[in-house]
Amino acid sequence: MKTFAMLTSGGDAPGMNTALAAAVKVAAEAGAQSLGVRDGYRGLLRDQLIPLAPRDVDAYWQRGGTELGTARCPEFHDLDARKTAAAHLIQRGVDGLLVIGGNGSLAGAAALQALIPDIPIVGIPASIDNDLGCTSMALGVDTALNTIVQACDRISDTARSHRRIFIVEVMGRDCGYLAMASALAARADAIITREQNKPLEQLVEELGAIAKAANHRGKKRVLIIKAEGARVPLTELVAHLAGDHGFAVRTTVLGHMVRGGSPSFRDRLIAGRLAFAAVRCLLDNQRGMVGWEPVEDGGAPTHDPAIQRFSFARVLEETQALLSGTHPSTIRRLRLLDVGQRVLPM
Ligand code: F6P
Repeated sequence: MKTFAMLTSGGDAPGMNTALAAAVKVAAEAGAQSLGVRDGYRGLLRDQLIPLAPRDVDAYWQRGGTELGTARCPEFHDLDARKTAAAHLIQRGVDGLLVIGGNGSLAGAAALQALIPDIPIVGIPASIDNDLGCTSMALGVDTALNTIVQACDRISDTARSHRRIFIVEVMGRDCGYLAMASALAARADAIITREQNKPLEQLVEELGAIAKAANHRGKKRVLIIKAEGARVPLTELVAHLAGDHGFAVRTTVLGHMVRGGSPSFRDRLIAGRLAFAAVRCLLDNQRGMVGWEPVEDGGAPTHDPAIQRFSFARVLEETQALLSGTHPSTIRRLRLLDVGQRVLPM
């Protein structure tokens, strides 16, 4: 009987639990047993693995966060620590490892795979930031977007009542995807991302002009969505934006509330299908990350037509390009933003 270890790592994301529950079920149906690793790579270092049967994880399906626990694990950068983790997997007779996580977690998976070439590791992209190459969607993104849009709708109610400019900061680390996509659905008036790379003076000038035009058109609220990756401090924006446009300025940082909550329909769907494809890869002794409808060429087919498998090296390379702004996805996102702004006139 094969044994697969499974862990969730890095920032939690809605859909991690769904993916785990689905993976345990698919493994069991194939006659394999699952071991859950507590708290991501930290649990692997401490040999904290527990048997998981489908009945143990059934109720996880619709829960936010991660029931297995997760951790930022800087120790894993250390080769000796990774050797300890590898030794634990070997001692327990593990035949494959499933890593559900984001950028840093997949880098950890690649480094660990180099130490245990005979034990396949498969990654499932999960991060609200949507900052990974070789997948158009990571788990948690859709739920996070729904949360942001709902929050912006509520903020718009109070903003309209007082005729205010609201600058809403959203998570996403260095990636502006959450800000870009939510801005369209929330009908924001402006968006600030790291990718646009605008200096403070230019931003203030543009935002001031947008506010004046909004006032002129009789609009009652101005909504500006700022990605946390855009380095310009909120306090400076507020100080410079207070002007002759007729609106008072307020800010809200949505922060970690965007990461919580029960996974949306789409996150559940993607989680279940990625988990199915990932476990099939482990059963077939394949390694790498399974990506949802990737824009990149050259992925290997999986048991799901919407999902392709890419080597960890390729994923990390594409992720780097995505964050540096040279990746086709980033260029496409900025173009879609442009089109979106025309479709949804602000
Ligand atoms: O990577 C997910 C994320 O939520 C980022 O958007 C954010 O910058 C970061 O994690 C926050 O990390 P922590 O929860 O460790 O403070």
